[in-house]
Amino acid sequence: MQIKHLNLVNFRNYESVDIAFQPGVNLLLGGNGQGKTSIVEAIIYCSSLVGPRYGGYQSMIKLGNEKSLVRALARYLDKEFLVELELNHTDKNRAKVNKGDVPTPRSVLGYVKTIHFTPEDSRIVHDDPQDRRDFIDQLIIQLSPRFAAIFSDYERALKQRNSLLKNIRTLSSTSMIETLEAWNQSLIGFGSQIIAKRYDVATKLSPYLEAAYKKISGDQRLATISSVSSIFSSESENSTDYAAVTTADEKIIAELFSRQLAQLQPRELERGYTLVGPHRDELKLMLGEYPAKGFISYGEAWLFAVSLKLASAELLRAESQSGDPVLILDDVFSSLDDDRLQRLMDLISGYEQVIITDAIRGKLPVFENITRFEIFDGKVRQLDG
Ligand SMILES: Nc1ncnc2c1ncn2[C@@H]1O[C@H](COP(=O)(O)OP(=O)(O)O)[C@@H](O)[C@H]1O
Ligand SMILES: [Mg+2]
Repeated sequence: MQIKHLNLVNFRNYESVDIAFQPGVNLLLGGNGQGKTSIVEAIIYCSSLVGPRYGGYQSMIKLGNEKSLVRALARYLDKEFLVELELNHTDKNRAKVNKGDVPTPRSVLGYVKTIHFTPEDSRIVHDDPQDRRDFIDQLIIQLSPRFAAIFSDYERALKQRNSLLKNIRTLSSTSMIETLEAWNQSLIGFGSQIIAKRYDVATKLSPYLEAAYKKISGDQRLATISSVSSIFSSESENSTDYAAVTTADEKIIAELFSRQLAQLQPRELERGYTLVGPHRDELKLMLGEYPAKGFISYGEAWLFAVSLKLASAELLRAESQSGDPVLILDDVFSSLDDDRLQRLMDLISGYEQVIITDAIRGKLPVFENITRFEIFDGKVRQLDG
């Protein structure tokens, strides 16, 4: 698929901008602080509803304004989809697809599919389990948009259940245990779908990861990903000791989940929060015989992260009904040496559309089908074509 057109109003440092993207490589060139990341942020938001790490979606609304508009026209074969988002500071956000109102902004998911590369991706390898869960969950939403609702249902059930556990603890009330049983059922229902899906996606992703890491690094060690879960481990509360998930069968997972909750109930009542479930699970990343986290160097972690993204793109390409995802590379040129950069470009040059940002530098890799844009102070100008 490709994005034909992007229109932003009062978004970050843009008052109003229209960009006509082309098939092939679109290169956004401009100095620091001119507005390159803001453009890709808008596209990513349409594709995932994931905003910036800090500041929430409100931080994307141009300072001093009440609302932002983001409009993306996506195209696959001869079908076009217009996705429109209205971000409001105080009021709730609204969305439209092909000019028609949709019940929730979540309804826009699935029309614009992207895989986003950024130097911050090395977090996936080095940082907290939450970064790895976010990585796989965002990929799941690209593959199966309906999961966005399941993630949010699970979050809600978890929150309610935690506050109930806290209440039972502080009030020493046993009459609330029946209500707990009801929340167990929601937690298990939504949670088992998530555990099964993460297992399924990690299993499919792993061979692509192995191939991508070899190609981009030139290193022959195997890079692999697998999912481990708190419900597959009887005693452990430490994610590094969790056992591997071995099935995508939701019934089996639900039974294990239910057994774990029963076993842990006394401890959960004591602590006042939920001790097992997808919110505690982990993805295990291995390079050769070593766990990636803690063992591999910063440079290797970055190549591992790039490989995870390349693998995600390949998986999406293989599974999606709407062709290739749009690849977005924000500021990654400066963190790769020339050799690896050229290898990365060779690996992604066959994708329908690639959007790359770069602070102007002397040497650019070789591209065939390329359109260049200059970004300066919240204005965008196409340089050629
Ligand atoms: N909500 C906002 N309102 C107005 N300007 C903003 C807002 N958020 C960020 N900016 C500014 O937008 C500019 C562009 O940022 P960014 O797109 O990250 O630049 P680049 O990626 O080109 O370095 C920065 O100068 C930043 O200070
Ligand atoms: Mg930037």
